[in-house]
Amino acid sequence: MTKTAAITGAASGIGLAATQRLLTEGWTVYALDRAAQPASTDSFHPIHCDVADATSVTAAFAAIATPLNALICCAGVLRTGLMEDMSIEDFDLVLNINTRGTFLCAQKALPLLRAAATPDNPSRVILLSSLAALRPKVVSGAYAASKAAVTQLTRVMAAEWAPSGVLVNALAPGTVDTPMVRAVSDPTASKGYRPSGVSPVGRIAQPEDVVDVMAFLLSDGARYLAGATIPVDGGTGAAFIPVGSNM
Ligand SMILES: NC(=O)c1ccc[n+]([C@@H]2O[C@H](COP(=O)([O-])OP(=O)(O)OC[C@H]3O[C@@H](n4cnc5c(N)ncnc54)[C@H](O)[C@@H]3O)[C@@H](O)[C@H]2O)c1
Repeated sequence: MTKTAAITGAASGIGLAATQRLLTEGWTVYALDRAAQPASTDSFHPIHCDVADATSVTAAFAAIATPLNALICCAGVLRTGLMEDMSIEDFDLVLNINTRGTFLCAQKALPLLRAAATPDNPSRVILLSSLAALRPKVVSGAYAASKAAVTQLTRVMAAEWAPSGVLVNALAPGTVDTPMVRAVSDPTASKGYRPSGVSPVGRIAQPEDVVDVMAFLLSDGARYLAGATIPVDGGTGAAFIPVGSNM
């Protein structure tokens, strides 16, 4: 039977890669984003939605109105800045989209997720936390706080929703090569983005590295996982690698 997912942030980066993967695997996808998206097809249904806006999110899930086997919340923004001079507008934006938006989408999707859940096939929610939630870094304080909150929401939603057949987990990527990171990666900007550390694997992630772990979370193999935040960081956060280490 065809499975159905709603994916937020589906127009770019990790959300786009997840959308393409699920479409390739025969899923029907409701793709939510505030950015422009391709035209709809039989299996691809773009919906214009601002995840930080409760009215917009309510309308989006009312329009979906079909049982959902999965919700994948990728919509997010990054704003950098030292805490002493970060603007209140940037702080609010990051918290509103990354944390409030994730909460709103999960809450509005819940009845649809419960409608699709069976004892053998629990529905899945995958939230996007970040390595920043587990090991914050300077110049990204608001972003780290927004993602730490997502990790805590993941735990509580998992405990509250697993009894009704909805398994909630989060992924915590390190640096992923997406437009979000490329937009702020000017090495000459002194207070700009810096990678989340050095992966001992020897490269930063591609969106597909994250989507492969999503595919596992959507599979039967993940039927007993709930409340976890899984690092997808190539070991970046596993151990501190001192500057000048000669491994
Ligand atoms: N790229 C990384 O290094 C990295 C690392 C850890 C976590 N993440 C998280 O992964 C998720 C996806 O990031 P990405 O790198 O693919 O970013 P991206 O910028 O490539 O894509 C984000 C998408 O979210 C959409 N979006 C932003 N605000 C929105 C809103 N209010 N309503 C609806 N859609 C909105 C954008 O239009 C865009 O299509 C984010 O939550 C991000 O915080 C990214």
